Amino acid sequence: MEKSINYFENPGKENTDELIKLVKKRLLGSNIKYIAIASVSGETALKLDDALKGEFDDIVILNVTHHAGFREKNKIEISSEAIEKLEKRGIITFVGSHALSGVGRGISNKFGGVTPVEIIAETFRIFSHGIKVCAEISIMLADAGLIPVDEEILAIGGRATGSDSAAIITPANMTNVFDMRIHEIIAMPRE
Ligand SMILES: Cc1cc2nc3c(=O)[nH]c(=O)nc-3n(C[C@H](O)[C@H](O)[C@H](O)COP(=O)(O)O)c2cc1C
Repeated sequence: MEKSINYFENPGKENTDELIKLVKKRLLGSNIKYIAIASVSGETALKLDDALKGEFDDIVILNVTHHAGFREKNKIEISSEAIEKLEKRGIITFVGSHALSGVGRGISNKFGGVTPVEIIAETFRIFSHGIKVCAEISIMLADAGLIPVDEEILAIGGRATGSDSAAIITPANMTNVFDMRIHEIIAMPRE
């Protein structure tokens, strides 16, 4: 089987439009029913929905934002207006603990060192931050019961803002994390 991977020269938001085009191309003729996207503000999730509208209306888009308190105590980084706007388009925004840091980060923040889950995260970052995010949000959404663990989904992540990485993944729950399979990388930054 021959497949192509798109490599962006650098990571970051500037790759978002091209990434969405590549995602659309990959979806053509596919059986993918779910797209998981990390969009802290909701902006990139809206962009994705705009691009898919009319052509891929049967695909369920799930958005993941940072957990409450990620940057500031008691604060969720997505506005209620953005959540509502997405909801009107049928896009749920999931807010919950990050699967690849979780309580582990609380332990290393307090006592120093590193926890196994943070090593898993850093290993995924060898590919790109975005690929780590694809893996992480697929676990989070699977654990929320929002995506299945026995079928391939498309996941999208990026470097802090926007999107620069996408992959076809069979998700796994947290309890069976090593059952996760990354079947294809659609795009990622080279640097
Ligand atoms: C759960 C979660 C974890 C994330 N982890 C990282 C990360 O480790 N490194 C990184 O560069 N960006 C990370 N991000 C940012 C996303 O990859 C993406 O660039 C961002 O959510 C896009 O948001 P925007 O639509 O507001 O621009 C994370 C986002 C979420 C929701």
